[in-house]
Amino acid sequence: MLPDLQTSIPGPQSQALIMDLRAHERRNVTYNDSTWPVFWERAEGVNVWDADGNRFLDLTSAFGVAGLGHRNQEVVDALHAQADQLLHGMGDVHPTRLKGALCRELSRVTFERWEQQPGKVVLSNSGFEAIETALKTARLATGKRKIVAFENAYHGLGYGSLMGTDLSKFRSPFEDQLADVTIRVPYGTFEDLDAREIGAVLMEPIQGRGGKVVPPPEFLSQWRAWCDANEVLLIFDEIYTGFWRTGKFFACEWDQVVPDLICVGKAMSGGFPISACIGRSAIMDAWPESTGEALHTSTFLGHPLGCAMALKSLEILQRPDTQSLVEKAAASLEKKLKSLPLSNSMEVRGRGLMWGLVLPQNCGALLPSLLQKGILMLADGPEGNVLSFTPPFIISEEEIDYTIAMLKELEVI
Ligand SMILES: Cc1ncc(COP(=O)(O)O)c(C=O)c1O
Repeated sequence: MLPDLQTSIPGPQSQALIMDLRAHERRNVTYNDSTWPVFWERAEGVNVWDADGNRFLDLTSAFGVAGLGHRNQEVVDALHAQADQLLHGMGDVHPTRLKGALCRELSRVTFERWEQQPGKVVLSNSGFEAIETALKTARLATGKRKIVAFENAYHGLGYGSLMGTDLSKFRSPFEDQLADVTIRVPYGTFEDLDAREIGAVLMEPIQGRGGKVVPPPEFLSQWRAWCDANEVLLIFDEIYTGFWRTGKFFACEWDQVVPDLICVGKAMSGGFPISACIGRSAIMDAWPESTGEALHTSTFLGHPLGCAMALKSLEILQRPDTQSLVEKAAASLEKKLKSLPLSNSMEVRGRGLMWGLVLPQNCGALLPSLLQKGILMLADGPEGNVLSFTPPFIISEEEIDYTIAMLKELEVI
């Protein structure tokens, strides 16, 4: 549904809530000024309502999580049913049956589909933790300490994942505490490096937060071949791109390149913080048998609510209807964005339901103006000048048209 604004944005409730939040939340978490943010109260499909009763159109899928739409009813039902049974288990000690079921399903949708061989899985909570699992796995499996990562990469903000993340604003305050193990290569290019100390190549098959960058067709396969020749593991970070976001179930399927380890999160559950690192069994078996204490785990690993939501989401994501929905919405979004009249300094790039409109300037002032029109959008890229379109798969033609009309009204295009 199109936006329906009851108050000026942000309305009085949101303004009061930000004052309250500012009193107790450390600064540098929730950005605020007189135009931003609104406080979310409820959501359904492509719509979000704020604390003042304004209805917005969500072109972000809330960081790419709500691919199936906000509060997909079947996922909500699965959550409720699980909440009636058990809220928390003992992930690596006395787990629930759901943990095994989710690991089996993640193996099925990755390595069993790609290579007819089972994969093995480590569950975790946030995306960055899945990356850290992958990096630790590569260390154990290869014995080598260095990694290759790419310019403008985003893999999360934990100290381990910061070894891969490039965007300097995130790294620079902590740079001197980061292990000096990363060889940085421009995204989209291949370099025949000396592999003696390199254990892993960590890459996003399509860069998300780096600005919706689609690499040249040979990029993934060149690094695949190099990894094979040099006993280096290829890790794909599909935390953002996974589960249809780019128009294929996984973005690496555009190039038919299979990684050794894949990290997923975000849209896997539709809203519970749960992520996973899935690897070829032989590689994952570099982890030793447990003698009672897991080497890498956490309190909420394999959380039953997250597993129940992820299992239901994966079931829906694999239905032919979902694929048709994605293909239809993706075709419509691509056609409409590519037919925009752009000046020379602008560009439209991306794939599927993950697009960026590259603007001549930072989107900082534009985002609150869009909010005033009832549109939730975010910006990406090292310069913050890539306006991102990552809507839920159920976005309609009318909703895309409305967004484009508002961009015209704001003289962006
Ligand atoms: C490609 C990619 N990797 C990793 C992450 C980190 O995930 P999380 O924020 O859940 O730690 C993100 C988050 O945006 C991402 O886009």
